[in-house]
Amino acid sequence: MLRDEGRFDPEIVSRIESHEIGAAGHAVNHFAEEISQASASELRDLAARLSPKSPEDVVTEALDIIIKKKSIFQCRDAHTEGGYYADAELGMDWQWENLIEPYIKDADLSTVLELAPGHGRNSAKLLGQGAKELHLVDVNQTCIDACRNRFGEQYDGCKMHYHVTAGDSLPFIANQSLTFVYSFDSMVHFDRSIILAYLREFARAMRPGATGYIHHSNYGAIAPNSDWAKNIGNRSDMSAGLFRDYCAEVGLEVTDQRLHGRAEQRGIDDLDCASLIRKP
Ligand SMILES: C[S@@+](CC[C@H](N)C(=O)[O-])C[C@H]1O[C@@H](n2cnc3c(N)ncnc32)[C@H](O)[C@@H]1O
Repeated sequence: MLRDEGRFDPEIVSRIESHEIGAAGHAVNHFAEEISQASASELRDLAARLSPKSPEDVVTEALDIIIKKKSIFQCRDAHTEGGYYADAELGMDWQWENLIEPYIKDADLSTVLELAPGHGRNSAKLLGQGAKELHLVDVNQTCIDACRNRFGEQYDGCKMHYHVTAGDSLPFIANQSLTFVYSFDSMVHFDRSIILAYLREFARAMRPGATGYIHHSNYGAIAPNSDWAKNIGNRSDMSAGLFRDYCAEVGLEVTDQRLHGRAEQRGIDDLDCASLIRKP
């Protein structure tokens, strides 16, 4: 119906449809209370900016906030516990040696943020690579607890910090404090609205000259505006091109992008993308 009226951008209409934002939508109803609480301050900010905007723009932004929060809670609850983390450890050596280490070997690991570490299989590699201070940030308390049990407060000369995020922000990380940001095998699931929010936070928290390795979905090149929970490999609607656009929007440079497919042990070609970023 929204589509027929032609009042709304087709992009937000397809996002509403794919995420089932409506009376029959299972996830949006399941998380309704939490979504309304978590969206309140962003919706208030939006209302404060109301006057110069058309009603269509306001509704589009409000729906994007709702889709973002719904996707955060869905993705959080899909990764609480289970056998995934132990199984994933088995693939780490190959992934590190072939997909990651060659591209980050010259990075300054003085103050590192790893987003969404799970149970810390990548963190162990970053520590082995000589990280001096490591912030681990995850939306699940269970993951942060697992990392704290594994690494403690100091590990091999590295000062460890642990944070539970609301799912789209890093308020506990100081401005211009990070020399390197890193995420592997997690942001591949994050809806594009979550990725944009985190890129804004990276841009704020990175020092000038800081770099990053961000592994994200490219499935949005095939299925734009789709719901991560229904896509192959639970990949989100992010794409390599959209990632470049978002980086430009928040003031970050993309210095390299590599698509991952069957040769990189992914289900289909061009499923994921590893982007190297830099703060000018
Ligand atoms: C598939 S696991 C991957 C964990 C780890 N990177 C690895 O390679 O083993 C996804 C991780 O993302 C975390 N996560 C999901 N949504 C998040 C969000 N919005 N912000 C931060 N972490 C999130 C989950 O709690 C989980 O730790």
